[in-house]
Amino acid sequence: MNVHASALAEAHLPDEQTTAFARDAVEALSQQPKRLSPKYFYDAAGSELFEAITRLPEYYPTRTELAILRKRGNEIAAILPRHAALVEFGAGATTKVRLLLEHCRFAAYVPVDISGDFLHAQASGLRRDFPSLAVHPVAADFTAPFALPAAVADLPKVGFFPGSTIGNFEPHEAGGFLKSARNILGERALMIIGADLEKDERVLHDAYNDAAGVTAKFNLNVLVRINRELGGNFDLSAFTHRAIYNREHHRIEMHLVSRKSQTVRMLGTSFAFRPGETIHTENSYKYSLDRFAGLARGAGWRLRQTWTDAAQMFSVHALEAAE
Ligand code: TRP
Repeated sequence: MNVHASALAEAHLPDEQTTAFARDAVEALSQQPKRLSPKYFYDAAGSELFEAITRLPEYYPTRTELAILRKRGNEIAAILPRHAALVEFGAGATTKVRLLLEHCRFAAYVPVDISGDFLHAQASGLRRDFPSLAVHPVAADFTAPFALPAAVADLPKVGFFPGSTIGNFEPHEAGGFLKSARNILGERALMIIGADLEKDERVLHDAYNDAAGVTAKFNLNVLVRINRELGGNFDLSAFTHRAIYNREHHRIEMHLVSRKSQTVRMLGTSFAFRPGETIHTENSYKYSLDRFAGLARGAGWRLRQTWTDAAQMFSVHALEAAE
């Protein structure tokens, strides 16, 4: 095949990721109530919007977790093994991991993320700033089992899962993830994990319904992706962002609400919307300290230590693998 023909083939044969996106989207939008998986939020634009969310005045989790890591960095470092491999589940801005790297001498850093782009940008900056650190990025979906690089096989392992991403799993998935992380990290592993705490509903509501509308744009970006990558015809002005706190389930729910009766087409399938009908795009579970400890225990971890900010907005936990 000449260069031209192969470029054409690439343009017309959807790659594996697009095929999976198409399959998931059609299935999720065919359900009642309609859903879309949050994993499709994060293309380049979505990742940038997410970084913007973390800087919003209403969005307290990022800055609160950073403050805890900064203030408690020495205490956290004191319980971690020296010359360990730090395995981060998901990779975004390196701000948080840098705090751990500065406080504790790690031999290796293994960022695991589905998006190669972020991984490579991350790796080069860290190699520059921590010359003695071996950086071994792994491009994988960290919600499924994956293998650690052979180079870190003999090092003690410390997992890192900040950002209350654990709260974006259903509780049973969160337990499954923690079990799988324990298997991947092995015996005697430790895990540093951030979990957002239950609090005043107004504060929660505002954190996910910011005045500048950045979270709305982030939520709507999944429809932008469907239009662009799957040939959908979503009218973005006919859907609005809504985040509500579901007290019974201890979670913020993000929805895209249809403003009218409408039919949207994607990949030869039609999806009818009633006025006010929603697509449920994400949950963000909020834990009490007790419920989080129970979750960790049920997944083969012992709670070694917990740190919170003074207002108990956010929690950072050190877990150790139970025998
Ligand atoms: N895990 C964080 C949270 O639930 C970050 C996050 C994931 C988020 N998806 C989001 C924040 C959507 C705002 C909107 O808060």
